[in-house]
Amino acid sequence: MNKFKSWGFVNENGDFELENPEKSSYLYFPIANEAGIMSSITPTLNGDIKSGQNTFLLLPVSAEDLHNTRSSRNFWINIKGFEPWSVSGNSPMQLGYTFQENSPESVKLEAGFLWHKVTRENNDLGIKAEILNFAPADNHKVELMKVSITNTGEDTKTIAPTAAIPIYGRSADNLRDHRHVTSLLHRIKTTDNGVVVKPALSFDERGHKTNDVIYSILGVEDNGDKPIGFFPEVEEFIGEGGSFECPEAVFCNKEPYSKSLDMFEGYEAIGAIRFKDVELSAGETKTFIIMMAINEEGDETENEVLISKYGNLEKIDRALDECKKYWNNKLSRPEFNTGDEKFDRWMKWINLQPILRRIYGCSFLPHHDYGRGGRGWRDLWQDCLALLIMEPDEVRKLLYNNYAGVRIDGSNATIIGSKPGEFIADRNNIARIWMDHGAWPFLTTKLYLDLSGDLSFLLEEQEYFKDRLSSRCTDFDDTWTIEEGNKLKTFDGVIYKGTILEHILIQHLTPFFNVGTHNNIRLEGADWNDGLDMAPEKGESVAFTALYGSNLIEFAKILKELKGRYSIEEIDLAEEMTILLDSLNVPINYDSVEEKVNLLKTYFKSCKNKISGRKVKVSIDELIKDLEIKGKWIINHIRNNEWIKNSEGYEWFNGYYDNSGNRVEGDHANGTRMNLTSQVFTTMGGAATEEQIEKIIESANKYLKDDKVGGYRLNTNYHEVKKDLGRLFGFAFGHKENGAMFSHMAVMYGNALYKRGYVEAGYEVINSIYSHCINFEKSRIYPGIPEYINEKGRGMYHYLTGSASWMLLTVLNEVFGVKGYFGDLVIEPKLIDKQFDSEGKTSATALFAQRSIKVKYVNRNKLNYGEYKILSLSIDGNKVECSIYENKAVIERKVIEALDGDKLHDIVVELG
Ligand code: G1P
Repeated sequence: MNKFKSWGFVNENGDFELENPEKSSYLYFPIANEAGIMSSITPTLNGDIKSGQNTFLLLPVSAEDLHNTRSSRNFWINIKGFEPWSVSGNSPMQLGYTFQENSPESVKLEAGFLWHKVTRENNDLGIKAEILNFAPADNHKVELMKVSITNTGEDTKTIAPTAAIPIYGRSADNLRDHRHVTSLLHRIKTTDNGVVVKPALSFDERGHKTNDVIYSILGVEDNGDKPIGFFPEVEEFIGEGGSFECPEAVFCNKEPYSKSLDMFEGYEAIGAIRFKDVELSAGETKTFIIMMAINEEGDETENEVLISKYGNLEKIDRALDECKKYWNNKLSRPEFNTGDEKFDRWMKWINLQPILRRIYGCSFLPHHDYGRGGRGWRDLWQDCLALLIMEPDEVRKLLYNNYAGVRIDGSNATIIGSKPGEFIADRNNIARIWMDHGAWPFLTTKLYLDLSGDLSFLLEEQEYFKDRLSSRCTDFDDTWTIEEGNKLKTFDGVIYKGTILEHILIQHLTPFFNVGTHNNIRLEGADWNDGLDMAPEKGESVAFTALYGSNLIEFAKILKELKGRYSIEEIDLAEEMTILLDSLNVPINYDSVEEKVNLLKTYFKSCKNKISGRKVKVSIDELIKDLEIKGKWIINHIRNNEWIKNSEGYEWFNGYYDNSGNRVEGDHANGTRMNLTSQVFTTMGGAATEEQIEKIIESANKYLKDDKVGGYRLNTNYHEVKKDLGRLFGFAFGHKENGAMFSHMAVMYGNALYKRGYVEAGYEVINSIYSHCINFEKSRIYPGIPEYINEKGRGMYHYLTGSASWMLLTVLNEVFGVKGYFGDLVIEPKLIDKQFDSEGKTSATALFAQRSIKVKYVNRNKLNYGEYKILSLSIDGNKVECSIYENKAVIERKVIEALDGDKLHDIVVELG
């Protein structure tokens, strides 16, 4: 039986510690820097290190590999008179301790932003090792490892230290595509400090190319002394019949056979570095520094730079301090001070996650064993939500660049390049389209406009993406060739540009007309739920029809503001697009699917290859009216047609039609069918009336809520591999997109409830996720939010998930109600009584208009939401003149802008 203890935070920075971390499976921790090193590390120092799909320094690992070979970064010490001991616990003797009750060995993990320290101590041997890993906050793709060995016994010990880190040094593709042949490419060199591999060629999807990338494992003693030799080839290090758990070089205490400046060719390599023997008297500590580096430029001098920068005790400690400072500063906004200290610290780990996804994309941590790096279109925009709050300076450019991925048919490029705004045509012409894609950019842009008031952004001109796919991927443009480039051109061959406003319009207008037989927007290749991918002909997503509908109405509001601020009467639009603004010309009957589809066909024909480039002036009032008519039509249509009641008397919205054209949700012979997604967007955007929301809450509590998985499941069990809807029904129930608590949708459900004022219910949703995540015995994850909770309650796909952005947004903008409205600061708390401390106080620190503000709520009588109003508001002790309506106050942007940019400003809000 494992002795079980959860992790606990040790300070306000969010640092935490965990006893016996190696006794939980599947744990991993990210180590990364802005230079692009991306590592994962486990309590037994397993995991991998890479800078991209084709440049893995350590062997790529999936979750299941984490317990197969326990260690990829090892460091052995051979204590005279004893068996060899591994600092990662990877010797045969230590492996045997795993289930032993009175094991002589204890392990402790401490971790923070972004460092990972394991302390392993063996009482029988009288030895302790502290292994600290981090990536320095500078421009080197390197992970540093500091190994400190202490003699905890009474007698002096003589030890022979050997680092042993296998160098994979190639593309992840070669794991099962010429693993052996690619080792023949290896050119292995030893230097004064370590083992360096520079493959002669790279064999991967890019072809057989001369390789520039250098992979290095370097070592140095705390005083700067160099190692005494190396075992650079795996087969020599482990010996005939040996293994990484029992390597001959260590177990037979062999002399290193290689010194500096040797060359080896054509073998699997290892950074096996022998340091000179050390005498450790009682209580004495000796430290070794290991550097694991990738240099993509082929710069052979970089290793000397690394040694000179980090190559002694003082230098590595300084680098660690700088690393901590860098991340603590980056993650300091937003910051929360509620009555629950644990929650406040947990939220810091949520802050980290969107940044991790910016660095890692959706690949490159052990559960994320798919993709080749990068992110999809939807994720690109989701992650910007949090970045707008945390790293706002760069985001305007990012948003602007991302709009270059929109096609003139309202769809978008799906292969996203590595540079901002770079979108690539799919050479295989895979015609896949996700029907929800057009809706997300608007949400992110709206957040940007609310935070900044920068409505002129909508009038900036941007290009459109162009490839062979046309008419929302139902057709090909055979006149287009890859040489033509990826930008939409006019018939005169000029690259066409339209405003951001025009891009948003087109993303909403083409779906509006692209309906199935029940007059909801077609599901096409899938929606947010990637697994709903088997209903391209007759499938419909009511859930996302609702989102498009509310977006249309919200966009109309933004255009009204634009008109008011800039006295704009007319908007320039591509001439072809007026076809879609039918209410301005010849209005069609929106109840007629046929009329909608025909109108869309006419539009697609007009822009299949190129467009005229002619712009027409459209009255902004008429445009606003058109959007409102369309948005309202959607809302009414859904209210009137998709509200269902089952035989048990529960009511909610149906969200889907399958490929047989049948309604999906409601009573079914296999049991009730209900989806969370269908409730989220109808609630969030206003399709659901208040009466309906109450019924939705009851139904979700009845059919979807399950404490076992930390709250609300994505769907009920369909008890069917429903091949006319999607592959997800092939997954076992309770896993991933089939009925797990899928954090992204669950958090959005919470967000929607808060938005509509159902604060207790919203709190329940958010709190159930949080409570499950911090319950380590169930979730078995470090602080943070995972992509989903599986049927056994385990947190899966930790760190890289869009749900972190939504969690942040929900807590700051909804729970604390600190948000923007066209550039002004809005304060609208939706805190419940238990979220205040014993004195009735709670606060959130955030950035707004480049000023640091700390919004402090004072609720002396500990009133609940609904009972309190805003009584008064002051900034730095001075009463602020602002409009207060009940629970909401609006402070004009100029008031915030007048504050000193270098100081933190207290905004005290009295509630009563
Ligand atoms: C993941 C994907 C996201 C997709 C979701 C559901 O969610 O990244 O694009 O919509 O699965 O299929 P995430 O990892 O962001 O939680």
